[in-house]
Amino acid sequence: MKQPIIFDTDPGVDDAQAIAIALRHPELDLLGLTTTYGNVDVEVATRNALLLAQLAGRDDVPVAQGAAAPLVKTRYPPPAHIHGANGLGDIPLPEVKGKANPRTAAQFIVDTVNAHPGQVALVAVGPLGNLAAALQLDPTLTERVKQVVIMGGSIREGGNVTPVAEANMFNDPHAARRVLTAGWPLTLVGLDVTHRCVLTPAHMARIESGQGELGRVLAGSYAFYRDFYQEFLGIDGCCPHDSCALAWLLRPDLFTTARGHLTVVTEDDAEGQTLFAPEGRAFIDSRWSRTPAVDVCLGVDGETVSDWIADVLS
Ligand code: RIB
Ligand code: CA
Repeated sequence: MKQPIIFDTDPGVDDAQAIAIALRHPELDLLGLTTTYGNVDVEVATRNALLLAQLAGRDDVPVAQGAAAPLVKTRYPPPAHIHGANGLGDIPLPEVKGKANPRTAAQFIVDTVNAHPGQVALVAVGPLGNLAAALQLDPTLTERVKQVVIMGGSIREGGNVTPVAEANMFNDPHAARRVLTAGWPLTLVGLDVTHRCVLTPAHMARIESGQGELGRVLAGSYAFYRDFYQEFLGIDGCCPHDSCALAWLLRPDLFTTARGHLTVVTEDDAEGQTLFAPEGRAFIDSRWSRTPAVDVCLGVDGETVSDWIADVLS
C-alpha cells in the first residue's frame, strides 16, 4: 500500500527536488502540498508548488496556502541569494494554470488527517507555522497522524543561519517549539544528516534527462543553488536537505537515530537552536527531559541517500 503524505514546504530549490520525489515516487500517495513563507514569500511558494505539480502532470494534487509570517518574531527577508528571488534560481518559469485550494494549509491538514485517521505522514520541510496552526485548530490531531517528519534543526552539527540554529527552526522558533513538543510520533531530520548528503552535477544530469520539463526547472534552479554551496561550503553540488526527510520516510535503514527529548530556544542569541536530551540520561535537573520523547537522526549513509534521490528521479 502507498504511504499517504502531506508535504508542507517553502519552495525553494531543495524543496522543489523533494516535491518532485513526492509527486513521482510509486510508494507515496501525495494527498496535498501545503505552503509557507520561508525561502520565499508564501504567494511565491504557492505559485512554485502549483507549477511543479503542473510540470509533473499532477495538477490533481491540491495546493493549500498557509503561513505568511512567523507566529511571534519579526520576519527576516527571504534568502534570494540562495534560492533566487523566484525561489527557483531566477530561471524563467512557465505560466501556472492551476489555483490554490480555498482552504488554509492548517485547515487542509486537519481535514485530510481526520479523513484518514492513523494513516497520514506529515512531512514538513519549511518553517513550522502551518503545523502549529493545525494543532491550534485541532489539538487531538496528534492522536491521528501516523508520523511527523521534520527537516530542520541540528543536534551536533551547529547552525546554518546562526552559529547554533538551522534555518527552518530559526524562521519560526515558537512554532517549532510547539510542533516538536506536541507529543506525536516525530522524527527530526536535521543538518547532522543533510550536511552528509551531496547531490552532485552528475546526479542532476540524470535527473534532468529523466524528468522532462520538470527536469529542466530542477536543473536550472540547481545551477543557481550550486553556486551558493560552492561559495559557502566549498562543495561541488548541493545538500538536498528536504529530500532527506522523504529518504528517511522510505529508507530509514540508511539513517541512525537516537531517542530523546527536544525543545527549541525561542529568544535571544540562541533562538532557533534545537536542544536534545537523550532518553534516560540524567542532567543536573530534569528541565531538558520533560518534553515527549521523539527520534532524531544523527547518522546517515549520505552517498546512498544522494544516489537514491537521483535513482527515484531518473
Ligand atoms: O536548513 C535547510 C532548510 O532551510 C531547507 O528546508 C531549505 O529549503 C531551507 O529553507
Ligand atoms: Ca525547505
